[in-house]
Amino acid sequence: MIRELLHEVPFPVTAILVLAWLLLLWRFWMFTMKPLMRPSDPKELPYWIPYVGHTLAFFRASDKLLERGLNYMNRSHEIFAVRVLGKKIYIITEPADVTAAFRDSEGLSFDGLLGRLLRNFNVKPEAFERAWHKPQPGDWCYIPNNPLNPDQLDLIHFVEAVYKKQLLPGEHEEKLSQAFLSSASKSMQFGPDGLLDNCQMNEEIRRRLSLYSLCRLVIVDAVTRSFFGNHLHNIDPDIVEHMISFNRYAWMVVFGFGTGLFETPVAKPQKALMAALKGEEAWVLKQLLPVMDLVGIDVESRAAMLLMSYWAAISNEYNVTFWILAYLLYDESLFLAVKQETEAAWRQPPPSVASPSSGGEDQDEQLDVMYLSANSPRLEAIFNETLRLRNGAGAIREVTKTCVIGGKVFQAGNSLMIPFRQLHTNEKVWGPTVNNFDPSRFLDKKSLARHPSFRPFGGGATMCAGKTLAKEEVFGFIAILLRRFDVRLAAGAPLDETASRPSKDGSPNIGRIPPFPLMNDTVPSLGINGPIDGMDVIVDITTRCPKKG
Ligand code: HEM
Ligand SMILES: *[C@@H]1O[C@H](CO)[C@@H](O)[C@H](O)[C@H]1NC(C)=O
Ligand SMILES: *[C@@H]1O[C@H](CO)[C@@H](O)[C@H](O)[C@H]1NC(C)=O
Ligand SMILES: *[C@@H]1O[C@H](CO)[C@@H](O)[C@H](O)[C@H]1NC(C)=O
Ligand SMILES: *[C@@H]1O[C@H](CO)[C@@H](O)[C@H](O)[C@H]1NC(C)=O
Repeated sequence: MIRELLHEVPFPVTAILVLAWLLLLWRFWMFTMKPLMRPSDPKELPYWIPYVGHTLAFFRASDKLLERGLNYMNRSHEIFAVRVLGKKIYIITEPADVTAAFRDSEGLSFDGLLGRLLRNFNVKPEAFERAWHKPQPGDWCYIPNNPLNPDQLDLIHFVEAVYKKQLLPGEHEEKLSQAFLSSASKSMQFGPDGLLDNCQMNEEIRRRLSLYSLCRLVIVDAVTRSFFGNHLHNIDPDIVEHMISFNRYAWMVVFGFGTGLFETPVAKPQKALMAALKGEEAWVLKQLLPVMDLVGIDVESRAAMLLMSYWAAISNEYNVTFWILAYLLYDESLFLAVKQETEAAWRQPPPSVASPSSGGEDQDEQLDVMYLSANSPRLEAIFNETLRLRNGAGAIREVTKTCVIGGKVFQAGNSLMIPFRQLHTNEKVWGPTVNNFDPSRFLDKKSLARHPSFRPFGGGATMCAGKTLAKEEVFGFIAILLRRFDVRLAAGAPLDETASRPSKDGSPNIGRIPPFPLMNDTVPSLGINGPIDGMDVIVDITTRCPKKG
């Protein structure tokens, strides 16, 4: 009977029916039977196409995918898995599991990821081999009692260690922070000596600026100078533009889509940055060069490593600063409270030192950034709350040895992810107001900032080395801006062509406060997300302190 029926159905239809039936069978086996038989495996979020799994969703809207996973688990925050490019990624969101995962540095490795990152940044295969090689007596790169590298670390771990030492609170970090602030202070002015003219939104209203451009331009410029002096600017005057374009599409490099048959938008800025980094190099990284020479790393690979370090230093800073300032501008009481804190960190110079001829406005005043950083609870609470809501990234590790976390078995060869947004919006930890921006939560409950479900800087051995510097840069930037200028929202400012038209009810758009910018979470996040294109904050700024003398 069935055979007769099948005879009458044309072959393609039969084939499709058989395939569909097999697929249903496979799906039933994978997502119903297997979990029952192997309860210690993390449950997989079901999918229809083997191998491909959730790949598209992961790259297009990973936040939505992870939320779908949490819902599938009835928001119990039990570990689950998604399937990306054929591999399982275990998703960890329960605070106790997060702590365990950050602690287990043996079965879970950062090195595999770092290796992939280096290759994607274009470190050549030979250099790659050499860079992972730990010097042994008799090797080409072994110097007994090497004063530069006394622990005989392989180059990768040597670079990591030197960079970390540089960023640890202390003398070196202070120098970086000071260099950043003096550069930012210099460029935060109108006219040919400053950068503010480049952020103008409106030809007629000269003081009407894009807040996002302001943060981005001044901060990338200042970080670049703090790391490399004026070297890179001298080699390529457009270096800041290249870095900004690179950061915009950095995810393509990180995920390995940077090179290939097609010219991607990241290729051009990456090439320009590499060219500049191949020239005269950083004073701050000069310790690295002799060891790179010793190990025998080619110029291209060396530049690739420098680019990675440079990129880590700029990628988050302007986005976080932009959001903080946006919150301040949309809430007057926050603004005033922060202003009080930043004003308290300015120091007058001793009278004998002040010289009337030293030029620009408030050049005599000094910002005590250490004081600011340690004595601004409100600004700090806003900083923390911004990091809580705007960090769309996650810590990723590779499973190198079968291990058990939260009662679930992780198989070697897969990866795991600790997604910060999902930790930071865990309603069990943060309560019903989890999605509101409410900095007072950190002031009311001091323990929240130490909760394992608050991890904006990651955790474990590779916890962000730059967090002290990051905070000083952000706080210092805001202190200078508010000290020097009167900053306010430009009511009814045209955001772009469409927004400058009269509003729907026909009334002119004057006097309206534009809506608060929305976050762009359409590309895989590597840190603090930015606003979506065209949703800037437009500000009118005027000089507060009249020129002295
Ligand atoms: C608000 C700003 C920042 C955020 C949210 C942030 C976030 C992070 C996170 C989450 C990690 C851990 C990655 C992991 O373990 O998987 C990390 C690592 C790191 N960050 Fe940051 N970061 C910021 C600013 C900076 C700055 C300004 C620098 C340097 C100047 C920096 C340098 C580094 C370095 C070197 C590491 C790697 C540490 C290691 O390999 O052991 N970060 N960052
Ligand atoms: C979630 O709850 C539903 C209904 O109570 C249940 O059928 C399902 O198995 C639960 N899912 C998981 C992953 O526990
Ligand atoms: C902000 O978070 C840090 C940890 O990242 C914590 O040390 C600090 O006390 C927090 N401050 C406030 C005001 O919440
Ligand atoms: C900061 O925001 C911009 C604009 O949305 C984005 O291109 C960039 O990748 C963001 N930085 C990070 C670290 O996500
Ligand atoms: C989000 O940012 C990416 C690159 O960072 C950009 O290509 C995309 O157009 C942005 N999307 C929106 C809606 O702004």
